[in-house]
Amino acid sequence: MAKSKYGTVRLLCVSALVFTAALFHCVLGGNDGSDGVSYDGRSLIVNGEHKLFFSGSIHYPRSTPDMWPSLIAKAKEGGIDVIQTYVFWNLHEPHQGRYEFSGRRDIVKFVKEIQAQGLYACLRIGPFIEAEWNYGGLPFWLHDISGIVYRSDNEPFKFYMQNFTTKIVNMMKSEGLYASQGGPIILSQIENEYTLVEAAFREKGPPYVRWAADMAVSLQTGVPWSMCKQNDAPDPVINTCNGMRCGETFPGPNTPNKPSIWTENWTSFYQTYGGEPYIRSAEEIAFHVALFIAAKNGTYVNYYMYHGGTNFGRSASAFMITGYYDQAPLDEYGLIREPKWGHLKELHAAIKLCSKPLLTGTKSNFSLGKSIEAIVFKTKSGECAAFLVNKGATDMNVLFQSVTYELPLSSISILPDCKNVAFNTRRVSVQYNTRSMNAVQKFDSNVEWQEFKESIPSFDETDLRANELLEHTDTTKDSSDYLWYTLRVEADSPDSQQTLKVDSLAHAMHAFVNGLYAGSAHGTYKEKGFSLENNITLRNGINNISLLSVMVGLPDSGAFLESRVAGLRRVRIQGEDFSTQPWGYKVGLSGEQSQIFLDSGSSNAQWSRLGDSSQPLTWYKTQFDAPPGDDPIALNLGSMGKGAVWVNGWGIGRYWVSFLTPTGEPSQKWYNVPRSFLKPTGNLLVILEEETGNPVGISLDSVSISKTCGQVSESHYPLVASWMSAKKQRASRTKNKSRRPKVRLSCPTNKNISNILFASFGTPSGDCQSYAVGMCHSPNSRAIVEHACLGRAKCVIPISNRNFRGDPCPFVTKTLLVDAQCT
Ligand SMILES: *[C@@H]1O[C@H](CO)[C@@H](O)[C@H](O)[C@H]1NC(C)=O
Ligand SMILES: *[C@@H]1O[C@H](CO)[C@@H](O)[C@H](O)[C@H]1NC(C)=O
Ligand SMILES: *[C@@H]1O[C@H](CO)[C@@H](O)[C@H](O)[C@H]1NC(C)=O
Ligand SMILES: *[C@@H]1O[C@H](CO)[C@@H](O)[C@H](O)[C@H]1NC(C)=O
Ligand SMILES: *[C@@H]1O[C@H](CO)[C@@H](O)[C@H](O)[C@H]1NC(C)=O
Ligand SMILES: *[C@@H]1O[C@H](CO)[C@@H](O)[C@H](O)[C@H]1NC(C)=O
Ligand SMILES: *[C@@H]1O[C@H](CO)[C@@H](O)[C@H](O)[C@H]1NC(C)=O
Ligand SMILES: *[C@@H]1O[C@H](CO)[C@@H](O)[C@H](O)[C@H]1NC(C)=O
Repeated sequence: MAKSKYGTVRLLCVSALVFTAALFHCVLGGNDGSDGVSYDGRSLIVNGEHKLFFSGSIHYPRSTPDMWPSLIAKAKEGGIDVIQTYVFWNLHEPHQGRYEFSGRRDIVKFVKEIQAQGLYACLRIGPFIEAEWNYGGLPFWLHDISGIVYRSDNEPFKFYMQNFTTKIVNMMKSEGLYASQGGPIILSQIENEYTLVEAAFREKGPPYVRWAADMAVSLQTGVPWSMCKQNDAPDPVINTCNGMRCGETFPGPNTPNKPSIWTENWTSFYQTYGGEPYIRSAEEIAFHVALFIAAKNGTYVNYYMYHGGTNFGRSASAFMITGYYDQAPLDEYGLIREPKWGHLKELHAAIKLCSKPLLTGTKSNFSLGKSIEAIVFKTKSGECAAFLVNKGATDMNVLFQSVTYELPLSSISILPDCKNVAFNTRRVSVQYNTRSMNAVQKFDSNVEWQEFKESIPSFDETDLRANELLEHTDTTKDSSDYLWYTLRVEADSPDSQQTLKVDSLAHAMHAFVNGLYAGSAHGTYKEKGFSLENNITLRNGINNISLLSVMVGLPDSGAFLESRVAGLRRVRIQGEDFSTQPWGYKVGLSGEQSQIFLDSGSSNAQWSRLGDSSQPLTWYKTQFDAPPGDDPIALNLGSMGKGAVWVNGWGIGRYWVSFLTPTGEPSQKWYNVPRSFLKPTGNLLVILEEETGNPVGISLDSVSISKTCGQVSESHYPLVASWMSAKKQRASRTKNKSRRPKVRLSCPTNKNISNILFASFGTPSGDCQSYAVGMCHSPNSRAIVEHACLGRAKCVIPISNRNFRGDPCPFVTKTLLVDAQCT
């Protein structure tokens, strides 16, 4: 995702269908395009066939290898054809020339798993990727390459970019993973949303774009390359759209022989500390996907993200929370999020029914009223698919080909045969579900915990000295979030109150005077600079001032990342500027240096029993056994402040519970602990708390889908056209049981419906979030539903008076709403 000034912008690899009389055919694959991948103005062409693709982003390092098969399987079941991932340069080459490809970094294994499940892959190599990933995926060592300017026509940058891109392409080739070799990779990406920064590089921008395109194409992968949000992507590289509303915003392919591809349709948005989650409804996503396909000839739509996952360790970029796109169709833990997953699955199925006209037909569009249009695709042999689009703010009845259709506000109906409505983007007929966190283990006794207080270094205890305030990241080389700035200050009166004022361009800081805590301050995602102003007490004689500057991830976007400045900029005491006095520096915390979060490092530390009061910069540790079962688990850190967590030495991530959202809640309270990080017994949990926190309030929670809810109305007839009269509809329903509206409920694997929390056939008010019995209510509701569902993993309840043994209110359109518990 590229961030614009307003946030992060991501590209989706989406191809649009362009219906031109003369279709150019751009062959990139095998000799004649019959193997490999090519494209034309309509779509990508795989092994000679035009393709309509739904794609989902799943980033391999944001989950664990044992989760990959089930994430990919759930994507496949949801109607996804292509798995898209970025390639994370700084994960693979953390030190120059030393590559790492094991565990969560095993990209070959990930791509092979995609292949094993019969899906395609889109590899977004970048290698600048943004992605809310530390430093946008660039390894920090690049920063020390002399004369380097990232992402511009700059020889050193181009050399390393080409070196890494070549390394990845060759690796994929040697494993036979490109579609041209019979592998799953059908598309790859070079650079990432470069348009957003191109102007900043002036005359160095356009030649870089051309170079990047040529360099990529020269690697001879046999599959097309794309550039997202790059409207001038040079041939044969495909320009693609990123965004929430590519159906409205995409200007289209830059030549008629390229398909319309949406590389990032955001299913939600990244979340920062202090920021609220961004909830994008299933209905809204479905509307924009259908619009992109119909209005922009789209034939490739990628969901960013389909599964977001977790920013483990220090992998998140500046201010990003550790959970990533938890609101995606598969949540942070890999659980299906309904109704998003199911509604999009139905959308994919409905659009796939239109494949033939979409991929081989001609298109026409006409108005059906104000803000309403029909977009129709027809083949020569008469196959027809229609999209009825209502962009207006009221429900409408529209006449299309002599038939009246109900068309809810802001919705699109899909008619794969130009007659029957297979899907409407606003009519959600799938179940809703509710996730719950239940404490399976509490660490609520003081004796379970031990603590280790980080020592506060004084000037004399530092080796690195300078008569100036050093830049933070250039000093740490990003080996740690933390940098100590220490100073000696002489005072000539006992216990004098003085004002300390520090201006910082890092993300947070904690001040200590003579080893005692003297205040903290922090910036925000939007306002990075901040100041601390506090009264401090100085003793007569020499005083030790120790200021801990803290980064919460490196930035991941914008031009000239290599010259960003962070850290303390000015320090004044009682108005006197100390910025050019002798300063002593220490990189990182002593607990980090001794690797206190590993069994070995932990056993060397001087732990003591938990004290009565908590003091900033304290390490805590305890041990726990793996909870039984296989539900995902998470640490509830609601009682803590700010810091980082490790389990058996694995970095779970940073946490920042004390930074509240505008509504007074932590942005993230639960932190994913993958099962594969655990041993059956004796797991070492180590927490670094920078502020004050209460470890006895921490619990280990199981994460599960605890409730499932469905709401369907008699008039809700997703698979039958509303072109039939009400009478005909009823007749058809009676004749054909599979056309009767029904509520379908299912619990996740290994769980059954154990309790019906609510059931009402009649006119219940509200929805699955909040409901009540209405004026009309069948007294048999509960009994019928319990009979159909209790003790079962899934159940189907047809909506008919007969099923509920009588009509509770004739002439009224009735609804069945059922909320059930899964255990
Ligand atoms: C879609 O295809 C039609 C021809 O069928 C063409 O007129 C139109 O410009 C295309 N739209 C886009 C956005 O490419
Ligand atoms: C990348 O650079 C290293 C030296 O820094 C060199 O050994 C290696 O061959 C290069 N790889 C490619 C693919 O150019
Ligand atoms: C994705 O959709 C949302 C909601 O419509 C929109 O606000 C956002 O800008 C879109 N993202 C992109 C990259 O278009
Ligand atoms: C048909 O589509 C074009 C391109 O999207 C649009 O400008 C035009 O307004 C549409 N016509 C009608 C009648 O809706
Ligand atoms: C400052 O630090 C030095 C060296 O660690 C120590 O000897 C001295 O006592 C400290 N001064 C105060 C006032 O704490
Ligand atoms: C510092 O002390 C002065 C004088 O006592 C007071 O006016 C001021 O508000 C204090 N400043 C802070 C930041 O507490
Ligand atoms: C009943 O409706 C379903 C779904 O529309 C259809 O697949 C099936 O063929 C119909 N059966 C009969 C007997 O008409
Ligand atoms: C769920 O129900 C099935 C029978 O419908 C039964 O075999 C299974 O043991 C039940 N599972 C649980 C977790 O209760």
